Formats: sequence, C-alpha cells, structure tokens
Amino acid sequence: MTARVTFGKDLTDLEGLSADQIRTILDVAEPFKEISERPIKKVPALRGKTIVNLFYEPSTRTRVSFEFAEKRLSADTVNISGVGSSVQKGESLVDTARNLEAMRIDMVVVRHGSSGAAQFLADRIPSNVINGGDGQHEHPTQGLLDMLTIRDHLGSIEGRRVCIVGDILHSRVARSNIWGLLKLGAEVAVCGPPTLIPPGIEALGVGVLKRVEEAIEWAEVLNVLRLQLERMEAGYIPSLREYNRFFGISVARLEKAPRDILILHPGPMNRGVEIDSHVADGPHSVILQQVTNGVAVRMAVLYLLAGGRPERAEAAKKESRE
Ligand code: CP
Repeated sequence: MTARVTFGKDLTDLEGLSADQIRTILDVAEPFKEISERPIKKVPALRGKTIVNLFYEPSTRTRVSFEFAEKRLSADTVNISGVGSSVQKGESLVDTARNLEAMRIDMVVVRHGSSGAAQFLADRIPSNVINGGDGQHEHPTQGLLDMLTIRDHLGSIEGRRVCIVGDILHSRVARSNIWGLLKLGAEVAVCGPPTLIPPGIEALGVGVLKRVEEAIEWAEVLNVLRLQLERMEAGYIPSLREYNRFFGISVARLEKAPRDILILHPGPMNRGVEIDSHVADGPHSVILQQVTNGVAVRMAVLYLLAGGRPERAEAAKKESRE
C-alpha cells in the first residue's frame, strides 16, 4: 500500500516539497480545471474559510488568480495591498497579520519584496500561509502552474529539457521552476547574460548555456523571463536593445530549432525585449494557458492546505453548493 501524501501548514517554496507532494498538487489541479469552464463556477469545498490576500508588491495574475481560486471554492476573501492600508503608516508584516488574525481568518496569501517574508510570517501565525512571491526567493504556485502547463502539452515532466532564459539572478520564478522541475526529473538549463546568472548555479544540478542559440538547439521548452528592471541596479546589461539582439526570443531564432519548442512566460511580458510579439502570440506559445492553469493549481493548493484529501478532489468538484 502506498503512503498517503500529506501537506504541512504552509506553502512557502518548492525546495521543501517532495516529488510526490508536487505531483499530488498537479493531479488535484486536474479535476479543478473543469470548474472554471462551467456557467456557475463554484463548489463548496472551502465554504466557511476566510482568506486574506496580502500583496505588498504589484500583481495582476497572481492576486486575481488566487482570488478567483478562493471564490470558486466558496471561501470568503479580502484583498489588502500595501498602498491604502496601514502598511503605509509603517505597520510591520507580522503586526498586520496578527491584526487580521484577531478578526478570525484561516489563510493568508502573501506577496512581499523581501526574500523569506512568507516563511517569516508562517513561523509566527497559526493561519496557513501561501507564498505569492517573496523577493528573489520563490514563487511556488507559478512554478507549479508552469509544470502543469508543460505536462499538459508534453504528457510528462520527467526527462524533458527545459531552459529558463533571461534574468535568472533576480527571478523567484526561476528558482521555483528549478526546484520543481528537477524534483520531477526534468533536465534544466539556464541561459542569459553572465551578469544575470547567479554564480555557482550549476551546483543545483542546472546546466548553463551562454548563447540563446544553444538553448534553442537543446530545449523542448523555453521559459522566457522578464528583465526585472525594478530589482536591478545599473550595469547588468548595456541596453534593452542589446539584450533583445543577443537574447530576445524571435521567430527567426525559433525557425532554426531542430524541433517545435513550447514557449512559456510567467508575465508580465516586455514585448520586443525578452520576447517578440510574433512568438508571444504564435502557435507554440502557451502563455495564456499558463494563466488559465494558475487558477486550477491555486485551487488545488488551497484545497490541500485546508485539509482536503487528494482522493476526494474529484468528488469535491461534483458537490453542489446546496
Ligand atoms: N506571474 C506573476 O507573478 O505575475 P503577477 O506579477 O502579475 O502576479
């Protein structure tokens, strides 16, 4: 008999999850996909739970996707951003969270500019904490939705060759992808200007490709990352134009690939910098499918952390509201 896969209180990173836990989240996301296709997109799995989305940094996809996931599972939700809350008056992360807990919440989804902020919070409050992206550390639900999208298109993760292209140094998405993909048995490489590749990254088991042409020759999947200009000091790259010339993913470059390459991008995109519009909107792009899968993955994470049993996910999807 196989042991039941269980989860802890929080989801702060993919580094700390086992391959079985990651596979379970992806498997539970599968039945939840269909809920978003219904005219009435709601099941009662999290009825009675109160969830706070605490976003200290800007977000479109992650915040809205979590909110849809929570609402589709019938949780009550509140959104708080740094701007317009008492964070602007200097209130600390923990004090904000403790005050929210005094109003009897169950879960917090947090996005914060400091690496480690989600774990810091998780260690200090009894509510479940889910990391919606912390500094340059991890963005675990983005890594999960990227893997679900790759699995949808290629049938498996194990043995697949995935290259993450761009600003690896500042990217929490890169770190979550690396941990998750390696645990599921993919081959992973990174490609970008030397100034944007963290020194010693090979120690994680990741290949480093210096030229984007090598990445296109090698990979079955390119996960193209945004240049995080807001996290950069001057001097990482000579100019955006030069970056596009040497590392931009264009149709002309992809036409030289020995196979079709699946194109992912976590968004927001800088069209004409790291990715050309004809690629972003082209036949091999699955960028909007990543966004669709994000809702199902986040439903799965919320359901499992709330104590939902993986084998009950199919039944939970069929339950009606009354
Ligand atoms: N992929 C991602 O994290 O996008 P947002 O910053 O819009 O949430």
